[in-house]
Amino acid sequence: MSRTRIAPSLLACDLAHVADEVRSVEAAGADLLHFDVMDGHFVPNLTFGPGLCAAVRRLTQLPLDVHLMVTNPDALVEPFVEAGANRVSVHVEAVTHLHRSLTHIRALGAQPGVALNPATPASVLDEVWPYVDFVLIMSVNPGFGGQHLILETLDKIARLRSERDQRGSAAEFAVDGGVEPGNAKALRSLGVDVLVAGTAVFRAADRRHAIAALRGEESE
Ligand code: DX5
Ligand code: ZN
Repeated sequence: MSRTRIAPSLLACDLAHVADEVRSVEAAGADLLHFDVMDGHFVPNLTFGPGLCAAVRRLTQLPLDVHLMVTNPDALVEPFVEAGANRVSVHVEAVTHLHRSLTHIRALGAQPGVALNPATPASVLDEVWPYVDFVLIMSVNPGFGGQHLILETLDKIARLRSERDQRGSAAEFAVDGGVEPGNAKALRSLGVDVLVAGTAVFRAADRRHAIAALRGEESE
């Protein structure tokens, strides 16, 4: 099994010091940076646009992982890719033509991902596996950081994994929401490739230790 990658979510950082926050998690061993884009419609919260993404792009070489929690994600894909996004995920619940959305992201040169809300069944991916580079499995209802992981997510990951493997897809799995050292081991053992973590990294006393613990490199 390859090493689990850790994606700190900037939602939990101190935005008054975003440059320091980015450098801090990069120095602490982050593998990519997760950007939670919220529009106040798809989710009841409002966050960042492409401007912040472009500013962060100038600070780091880490891959930027943009999670679009918006009602019309197709309209934001190009601005975010131009701002330096390397990976873009759209919520299946927000798009009408998922195949078109995914091929659009890839045509612009970014890796396409599909985000699934906790109540969305694994089967929504049945017809699009060849077009998906990664699945962002929401383990909380999106909108806010600091929530608890919904345990049924673990069963869904197992179902997604068996479906993915049967279809011969190489899509990666990322889990987002309530990830912390106490549940990271179970997620890693299910073959999750990327752990997104806001609170568990940015609010940790020692971010290097927190990232290592999520990866399972230190005693938990
Ligand atoms: C939830 C976001 C998550 C969130 C994770 O809407 O998509 O990325 O920031 O935050 P924690 O790790 O605090 O649950
Ligand atoms: Zn997210």
